[in-house]
Amino acid sequence: LNYLTPKSRQEVLDLLVTGLKRLEYRGYDSTGVAIDSPDNKSIVMVKRTGKVKVLEDAIQEHFSGGDYSEPVLTHIGIAHTRWATHGVPCERNSHPHRSDEENGFVVVHNGIITNYNDVKTFLAKRGYEFESDTDTEVFAKLVHHLWKTHPTYSFRELVEQAILQVEGAFAIAVKSKHFPGECVASRRSSPLLVGIKTKTRLATDHIPILYGKVLPRSESTSEFMPLEEKEVEYFFASDASAVIEHTNRVIYLEDDDVAAVRNGTLSIHRLKKSLDDPHAREITTLKMEIQQIMKGNYDYFMQKEIFEQPDSVVNTMRGRVRFDENSIVLGGIKDYIPEIKRCRRLMLIGCGTSYHSAVATRQLLEELTELPVIVELASDFLDRNTPIFRDDVCFFISQSGETADTLMALRYCKQRGALIMGITNTVGSSICRESHCGVHINAGPEIGVASTKAYTSQFISLVMFALVMSEDRLSLQQRRLEILQALSTLADQIRAVLKLDSKVQELAKDLYQHKSLLIMGRGYNFATCLEGALKVKELTYMHSEGIMAGELKHGPLALVDDSMPVLMIVLRDPVYVKCMNALQQVTSRKGCPIIICEEGDEETKAFSSRHLEIPRTVDCLQGILTVIPMQLLSYHIAVLRGCDVDCPRNLAKSVTVE
Ligand code: G6P
Repeated sequence: LNYLTPKSRQEVLDLLVTGLKRLEYRGYDSTGVAIDSPDNKSIVMVKRTGKVKVLEDAIQEHFSGGDYSEPVLTHIGIAHTRWATHGVPCERNSHPHRSDEENGFVVVHNGIITNYNDVKTFLAKRGYEFESDTDTEVFAKLVHHLWKTHPTYSFRELVEQAILQVEGAFAIAVKSKHFPGECVASRRSSPLLVGIKTKTRLATDHIPILYGKVLPRSESTSEFMPLEEKEVEYFFASDASAVIEHTNRVIYLEDDDVAAVRNGTLSIHRLKKSLDDPHAREITTLKMEIQQIMKGNYDYFMQKEIFEQPDSVVNTMRGRVRFDENSIVLGGIKDYIPEIKRCRRLMLIGCGTSYHSAVATRQLLEELTELPVIVELASDFLDRNTPIFRDDVCFFISQSGETADTLMALRYCKQRGALIMGITNTVGSSICRESHCGVHINAGPEIGVASTKAYTSQFISLVMFALVMSEDRLSLQQRRLEILQALSTLADQIRAVLKLDSKVQELAKDLYQHKSLLIMGRGYNFATCLEGALKVKELTYMHSEGIMAGELKHGPLALVDDSMPVLMIVLRDPVYVKCMNALQQVTSRKGCPIIICEEGDEETKAFSSRHLEIPRTVDCLQGILTVIPMQLLSYHIAVLRGCDVDCPRNLAKSVTVE
């Protein structure tokens, strides 16, 4: 809604399209926008299958010049980029969805409405016909039904009544031709924020929450006691990257908040008040810079993020690791350390790459905490109804802080009384907010769908935690010093590994036409095998498998012959001899492995024709240096195979559905 400077509808469309581009990493199989027609009497929608660029071209075609260049003072537009959960990606299934042929109510939605079939049956009986296969469409039609049956309800009340009827996860924004100049948005389990742009600094840091019954449609907005500004633009978005170029002042909405904008007024409403509910939502100031989310000189975000790692690992440690005092302070958990030390077990839970960071650090956590450490995939953990105790400490590791499986696992553990620790990269995310304590990994925004710098920062965060836990253990001081020392030189060592880029690119040229790549290692480097194979799969669509070298003889060896590409990680650590055994098992089956080894290790190099040498570091941090060549390798193979590096097919950055 724009009171700041008059904008034409064309400018509103530009603004929406730019916002969609920033959010494209969240979904990119179809897109759509809805704005008011020049006479304000109807809503015009444009939808396209494919990326935002396709929509942008279509918009240019539809709206250039004429009536759409007329400046207006107030306008609401909504837009969406989709990653299909219900219904194949096509124009018909893309958002916004509408209530009726006249576009009475139009809706954009992120998440899943799980009871959509029941709602659909209810509405179908009342004569509604559905034009898409989506769960979202039922919401638009439900609001329409309520509007017809409750003629006195305000727009906000209609949406409020509708969200009471739906189950599942949603962040939803609704626009209506019956309520021009108004927009209502709400969330449950899916993220949603409100950006506020004003000419002068706002006089308040809080928006009061209004509880209870909503005023009828006709009553004045001033009775809502909301944020009233004469010149203001409001932005509802799934995350801050879409709004940061307009404003850094945002409110993170909570589950079941209903936020409404009307005549330059924002109000936040909740139907019921429970004892511990706050009176207001805070307006926070984001530190994120627009440059942080742009590609810079790189071809792809993923490439940029790989090369950012010397800085991102330092940012993770900044203000926490005091190298001069050999001490570590993790502000977000320090008050909980005594409780954590008394715990029964440490449970590390995550999905995808985040799960691998738990695998990578498990051994060190066991060593330095002397506690049982259990590593779990969130989905499997939930499937098994795993027993959880009040004295368990559960870590939820998630770059986005929004992954539905991880969030569900968090709620499951919280309900059972465990201490909940979030390890996330996204301040204000659901996992952050629902944790008792936690560590922000501070890697900066990660846009490429395949996670890279978040992995190394999660890894370091868990290492820092292990160091904090062992601070008063005399027998472990030597070991701690060795690790702290290694952390202090890690950024330079990462820089050295990144210099292997052109060598890795050459290797990619040898590999990119193959069907498969086996990646083997053990001990501290097993996680690199899993993570390397995941990167290859997600980016290049080649088959790849991370193999525990100890298991080679129990099956995978059957895959090895002179044509199967094999990559092995063989470093001078406690499992060196065992890795050499595996290496020999491979070479004696005519396999010709590529080896990642330590700089100057002539003996090991002799077993391979191609090798990558990485600097020596302490065993428990090797995984950071060995994963980077794997990130680069998958990146180069993807480019050579013509794959879309930042948006691999069928995948999404933030999987907010179970
Ligand atoms: C998706 C992404 C992966 C990511 C996983 C967990 O599957 O494609 O790259 O590792 O989710 O995401 P999280 O945000 O919880 O770390």
